[in-house]
Amino acid sequence: MPLSSTTFSRPSAAITYQPLSPEHFAAVQRLGNQVHGEGYLNPVVLAQYYQQGIKNGHNAGVVALDSQGLAGFRLAFAPGQWQPDQWCSPQLWQVQQSQVGYFKCNTVRPDLQGAGIGGELLRWSVAAFKAQGALAGVAHLWVQSPGNAAVRYFSKHGGQLVRIHPDKWRQDSLNGYECVRCGFDCHCDAAEMILHIAQD
Ligand SMILES: CC(C)(COP(=O)(O)OP(=O)(O)OC[C@H]1O[C@@H](n2cnc3c(N)ncnc32)[C@H](O)[C@@H]1OP(=O)(O)O)[C@@H](O)C(=O)NCCC(=O)NCCS
Repeated sequence: MPLSSTTFSRPSAAITYQPLSPEHFAAVQRLGNQVHGEGYLNPVVLAQYYQQGIKNGHNAGVVALDSQGLAGFRLAFAPGQWQPDQWCSPQLWQVQQSQVGYFKCNTVRPDLQGAGIGGELLRWSVAAFKAQGALAGVAHLWVQSPGNAAVRYFSKHGGQLVRIHPDKWRQDSLNGYECVRCGFDCHCDAAEMILHIAQD
């Protein structure tokens, strides 16, 4: 897993990928809250999520940058550095919980969605998970995301559905997270999905 940056070019844009670091926090919080809703990220949780992504010298958090600044970001927790909750079904994963990473959040700037950047961010985190000893990664995909982009991109890259969880973010919304779709009474569903990682 390289810790230096990598660049790939498209006809209209050059996107650079770098490990997430504190210098990106302000822009990550702004984009996260713009795309998911106010209150989704704050400096305290972001600093915690960042630490949860680092293990054995590998960072599963990644940002995508272009000439305008932050083009997207992925937050991810290394295996053994997160706790499954009531929205997780480890009995269905067919992998030891201690060998499963968590894909916390993938976000692409609205003007760049649909161009494959989400998949590239995912690939970066998968490479880090592999180096951290993970055999799989679990995610909760936002079923009502515009164009069903979340479930579509994750399935395209090998994610398999485990279970649908209604009202996954309802309590967060009652506590002050303003969902961009439902406001302060969120009824969006989460698709718990797993992506298996081959260790060579
Ligand atoms: C979900 C997300 C990270 C995927 O990244 P991406 O770079 O857009 O992924 P892709 O380019 O592979 O697009 C995935 C599919 O969704 C479609 N799509 C993406 N954004 C879309 C949009 N805003 N409206 C309609 N369709 C969209 C794409 O056309 C593509 O369809 P295809 O698989 O039939 O080709 C990104 O779209 C995003 O940030 N969405 C809003 C936030 C979100 O839902 N985050 C995930 C929360 S779990």
